[in-house]
Amino acid sequence: MPNQSKHLCVVGIQWGDEGKGKVVDVLSSEFDVVVRYQGGANAGHTVKIGEKEYVFHLLPSGILQADKVCVIGNGVVIDPRALIEELDQLRKSGIEHEDNLWISDRAHVVLPYHRALDQARETAASAGGKIGTTLRGIGPCYTDKAARLGIRMIDLIDAERFRTMLQRNLALKNAELSKVYGGQTLEFEPILEEYLRYADRLRPRVRDISELLLRAEREGRRILFEGAQGSLLDVDLGTYPYVTSSNTSFLGLGAGTGFSQRRVGTVLGITKAYSTRVGEGPFPTELKDATGDRLRAIGNEFGATTGRPRRCGWLDMVAIRYAVQLGDIDALAITKLDVLDGFEEVRVAMSYQLSGKPIESFPTVLDPGLEPNYVALPGWKKPITDAKKLEDLPRPTRDYLQFIADESGCPISMVSVGKDRSATIQLRPWLEPGPGRAARGVHA
Ligand code: IMP
Repeated sequence: MPNQSKHLCVVGIQWGDEGKGKVVDVLSSEFDVVVRYQGGANAGHTVKIGEKEYVFHLLPSGILQADKVCVIGNGVVIDPRALIEELDQLRKSGIEHEDNLWISDRAHVVLPYHRALDQARETAASAGGKIGTTLRGIGPCYTDKAARLGIRMIDLIDAERFRTMLQRNLALKNAELSKVYGGQTLEFEPILEEYLRYADRLRPRVRDISELLLRAEREGRRILFEGAQGSLLDVDLGTYPYVTSSNTSFLGLGAGTGFSQRRVGTVLGITKAYSTRVGEGPFPTELKDATGDRLRAIGNEFGATTGRPRRCGWLDMVAIRYAVQLGDIDALAITKLDVLDGFEEVRVAMSYQLSGKPIESFPTVLDPGLEPNYVALPGWKKPITDAKKLEDLPRPTRDYLQFIADESGCPISMVSVGKDRSATIQLRPWLEPGPGRAARGVHA
């Protein structure tokens, strides 16, 4: 990867859990700096090396490699407790790369009242109002950021300022917790004491990161930007209100780092070979039947952060085309292709219909009555995990990949055929789309 440009952005183009952690890990050897730019400890990026599996929530996946500078951008909301736990876990595994990590002084801090409010709001919401959040305090923290109440890393590491801000915010949040939700209030002193300890540990790692990134670029170093969640969970362009609270698509990069998006040459969109979603919200190709259960079992589709079973279904080309378009995606990485190994046929939704009316493009509101129109392609019924190059894949597998390229209008640059780092096929040259949709006179 990437053959034309210096910097690369990796984004999920479904509802998250596309396997970005593995892709970033595979590609990071070609880069000097790895950056997270949005989201928080709601993310769960899994990397498997040999027998060992690592799950990252806040740390950029590049942290496994000793020579990478890792950056947490200002667009990320940081739960210091979760971050320190992650660093300590790594230390226990013998990976001590903390000195390679830089945290934006402008990033907002997730505090216990954010988690308490996340929980209280979800518990109080009526059936249709629940989002199914990860309960990590993400929404309430971004709410404070937009309301200009937020506490940033620069405030956390200044004990006096933190004390004053925490006092002010806790009074407001306790009033909300008790008066609006009838819940327990939180005590000031224990939070202050705990978070000042975290501040002492993290202080040496906190700095202005936009300046660091610009300098890295001037010195000719290559930067990999690692998106969290997926484009369809984008707060502006996703399936609102069933979304997370940040810009999960490529659009979040500039605001979340201060680094100009125009300088990022290649955007790689990650999609599974089928679809999953966790939490509430519309999911047109969801399979609430034995096939869905089979995808979940084979794909081990349980949340890396919350352990919740993921909802599973076939690939949704309407959604893929939408995400490719809004993310200005240059190439696709197809992950978990091996999960489809045993299936007689593989289906792809090409359009939807609602009460008999055809819908070709991704609607702003996805009506629960929306029905997908599928095409069925032959399955391959062979294990593919040992394939090292495109030609090693069975004919129907290659046809499926070509179909995805044709119908999305986007080349494929990488295919993942198993969990391990080594079970990855990098396509050089990229698998280019043929005439596909355009040839049939259908326009996105
Ligand atoms: P929140 O980000 O915890 O507020 O959750 C909002 C929605 O985004 C819920 O449907 C979550 O399940 C979903 N979500 C948040 N983070 C992830 C992720 O990393 N993978 C998949 N879904 C996520």
